[in-house]
Amino acid sequence: MPKLIQSSLWKTLDAHFNEVKHSHMRDMFDQDSQRFDKFSLKLNDILFDYSKNIVTEKTMDHLYALAEECDIRQWIEKMFDGEAINNTENRAVLHTALRNRDGLPVLVDGEDIMPAVCEELKRVKKLAEAIRTRLWRGYYDQPITDVVNIGIGGSHLGPLMVTEALTPYSLHDLNIHYVSNVDENHINDTLEHLNPATTFFIIASKSFTTQDTMVNAETARQWHINKVGDDSQIDKHFSAVSSNVKAAKEFGIDENNVFQMWDWVGGRYSLWSAISLPIVIAIGTENFDELLQGAYEADQHFRSASLEENIPVTMALLGIWYNNFFDAQTMAVLPYDQHLNKFPAYLQQADMESNGKCVDRQGSVVDYTTGPVLFGEIGIAAQHAFFQLLHQGTKLVPADILAPVSNFHCIARHHRALMSNVFAQTEALMKGKTEQEAYAELKAEGLDEDAIKALLPNKIFPGNRPTSTFLFNSLSPATLGSLIVLYEHKIFVQGIIWNINSFDQWGVELGKQLASGILHELDDNAPTKQHDSSTNGLINYYKEQRIKNKGENSL
Ligand code: F6P
Repeated sequence: MPKLIQSSLWKTLDAHFNEVKHSHMRDMFDQDSQRFDKFSLKLNDILFDYSKNIVTEKTMDHLYALAEECDIRQWIEKMFDGEAINNTENRAVLHTALRNRDGLPVLVDGEDIMPAVCEELKRVKKLAEAIRTRLWRGYYDQPITDVVNIGIGGSHLGPLMVTEALTPYSLHDLNIHYVSNVDENHINDTLEHLNPATTFFIIASKSFTTQDTMVNAETARQWHINKVGDDSQIDKHFSAVSSNVKAAKEFGIDENNVFQMWDWVGGRYSLWSAISLPIVIAIGTENFDELLQGAYEADQHFRSASLEENIPVTMALLGIWYNNFFDAQTMAVLPYDQHLNKFPAYLQQADMESNGKCVDRQGSVVDYTTGPVLFGEIGIAAQHAFFQLLHQGTKLVPADILAPVSNFHCIARHHRALMSNVFAQTEALMKGKTEQEAYAELKAEGLDEDAIKALLPNKIFPGNRPTSTFLFNSLSPATLGSLIVLYEHKIFVQGIIWNINSFDQWGVELGKQLASGILHELDDNAPTKQHDSSTNGLINYYKEQRIKNKGENSL
């Protein structure tokens, strides 16, 4: 296949883009009363409305043809079948196996991994239920009241996002805390109010070498030992989830409390693995099974739906359309569900660590743009913060809006107000307000012609700002599982089209390497000379100031 942007289909898309780039969605809706029906899809209780995008039927035909030409179908099967599609690390990518419910084997190097997956899940559930039912006892024979998950990136964001999202399904007398930042404030603030006799730690690290996590884990261990007097009670209060079981054991964690993950699970795709331990403790095994079921059903949809009916494929293609043709640099994720408040942060890692790449699968630097800058915030909060730019700024920011038809504790007065904003914002972003409309409004307010003239340009909304809306019945575990998977697979499809490996993350290595060198330079107060002038200047300023702040005991 020719390189992406030299392919004839890409050129067709480019020509088509030039035909439609000045079209306005307002006209598209005026001309086609069926637009919503044509451009919306369903998966169980999730409605995906993408009709408020700058696309025509022809656009979608070309985009689906592009997906076809990029062999999406074969790539999907390669992933589910355990081929080593993570080519730079020569690994399979099998987070899908962790939620596989069909009972069929999944082979890695000829070996069925499903028995090990099921066994590990069983162990996770057993420990979680022991803690939930208060059978698990701490060193004073008291039940656990607080669980602290120490991890970062994929060993943090997924569990954090899910436990927040499923708050209504959680035990209320068991608190789950998350510590990720090596900044001592994070662990200090967390431990300050906790009782070591009733606190249980999970050290979550696929590698068990990540500096932030290991420093925090050591502090937690020391805090525990200081209170207990020795390390004899660690097995009652510490567990680990890692693919580096040896290192977890060396840290002092009882083998029975060490949970395995595998190299074919990427960190940012690991919430389905034993990394889910804090989730299962919070929501229990039945709810967790529902989460897995929702995920599995979205996997099935991805595997079996035609490209045109396929939600992740459609999401991916819309992203390509804006990213590569409209030159949009960003995308916003705007949940109108308070419980999804960590969803944008979670997706930031999922998307940007996966597709923030400039080298293709063959090792060449790409000549087109890849993953967007993803950002987001709870929709209502964002309306009062950055929606101004979405409505009237100079940048095109395609946005995803997510909202529940009803809430776990639905209070009609609140929910209607919330939903009125969902519908109003997507309509406003699409339609905008024309000069004539703005003029008529100002006139009706009684402004004279001079005042109207001065104000009018500011009152015009260009509109034509794309949004895709996900409406779901309520944020149940199954629905959440499906939503996460739709995004996971969207990212995968985009990676295939851009011909990049979405499953490595070499870009985070350089900073880590330099930090470990600089860490040693901070062991003394001697001036540093080996960096550029800015880095030297910053390090030396820090050294001077810490002496002033703390006297000679600055180390
Ligand atoms: O630094 C990036 C990263 O490797 C992520 O991909 C990963 O989720 C995170 O660090 C944490 O890694 P670990 O689980 O090995 O501590």
